[in-house]
Amino acid sequence: MRVLGIESSCDETAAAVYDTSAGLLGNVVSSQVKVHAAYGGVVPELASREHLRSVVPVVEKALTDAASGSDAIDGIAVTAGPGLIGSLLVGLCFAKSLSYAWGKPLCGVDHLESHVYAVFLESEVAFPYVALLVSGGHTSLFRVAGWREMKFLGGTLDDAAGEAFDKAAKMMGLGYPGGVVMDRLAREGDAARHRFPRAWLSHDSADFSFSGLKTALRTFLASPEGSAARVPDIAASFQEAIVDVLAGKALATARREGIPRLVLSGGVSANSRLRELARERGAAAGVEVFLPSKSLCTDNAAMVALLGERRLSAGFSSGAELNAYAASRFSR
Ligand code: KG4
Ligand code: ZN
Repeated sequence: MRVLGIESSCDETAAAVYDTSAGLLGNVVSSQVKVHAAYGGVVPELASREHLRSVVPVVEKALTDAASGSDAIDGIAVTAGPGLIGSLLVGLCFAKSLSYAWGKPLCGVDHLESHVYAVFLESEVAFPYVALLVSGGHTSLFRVAGWREMKFLGGTLDDAAGEAFDKAAKMMGLGYPGGVVMDRLAREGDAARHRFPRAWLSHDSADFSFSGLKTALRTFLASPEGSAARVPDIAASFQEAIVDVLAGKALATARREGIPRLVLSGGVSANSRLRELARERGAAAGVEVFLPSKSLCTDNAAMVALLGERRLSAGFSSGAELNAYAASRFSR
């Protein structure tokens, strides 16, 4: 089965083609970073307009790269939510139109689920596994026992980890998006130079909190010590506070669940220090850590096409009533 996937939940317009036997055939991502950089964050209305401009050329390029005309496509998968509602609707309406015009089945997929299963584009992971999903909008832990079995174990009580990176970078005048810049700067800094707080919450909690850390950074930057500090040292110390908690809680959850497999997913799992720490601590704890390529951690449509292929192959499809949704369907 060959599936065209479309993703437009935030500020990336993406399309990909995934084939059951040939694997990933085309994978195109058009980023809107330049459009939003001037505002220091994603402007929802501008994002929707950019998706409208990009969706046709991006889908055409993915089909061309895959050497697939509409006849070769067996189904269309699209991100239905969660995300920015205007952005989601652009991808969703386009996917519905293609499904109707081509007479091919449609499959709405959840953005969180597609991140969590993206690892299968590169590796075979045995079920069950623990997944840490860390992105701009989400920081959650799941127990994944099958292609339709994803149990929410805990999540952030306030800011997402990516949001903390982005807001910190903004406070430090480093521009947008902040995560990648912080990651790069941190490599030249001393992570032990400044001590930022870690919110471990209760001993066995799979929940996270990053708002106190953000406030601590703001207070530090305004202090005489903060004004005199080297930017790379601040970036490295701040980043360490985030990744220490992410890796620590993810591995503690794997231990508590009795599962020796941990999968990282979402944009923040592209962070080089998080990857290093998860690998090191995983090896010490006897937990196999799976790290998808960075381009499969950030938003893409390859993960949408893959999940669509699995769902459509298993006989699940969506009707014309499929609608977009803004809020996460996973909660405690
Ligand atoms: O998964 P994603 O592409 O979009 C969402 O669904 O949110 O994640 C985007 C987030 C942003 O907050 C971005 O700053 C962060 O992932 N990010 C990083 C890195 N690359 C992207 N954060 C830290 N280090 C990175 N290398
Ligand atoms: Zn995402």
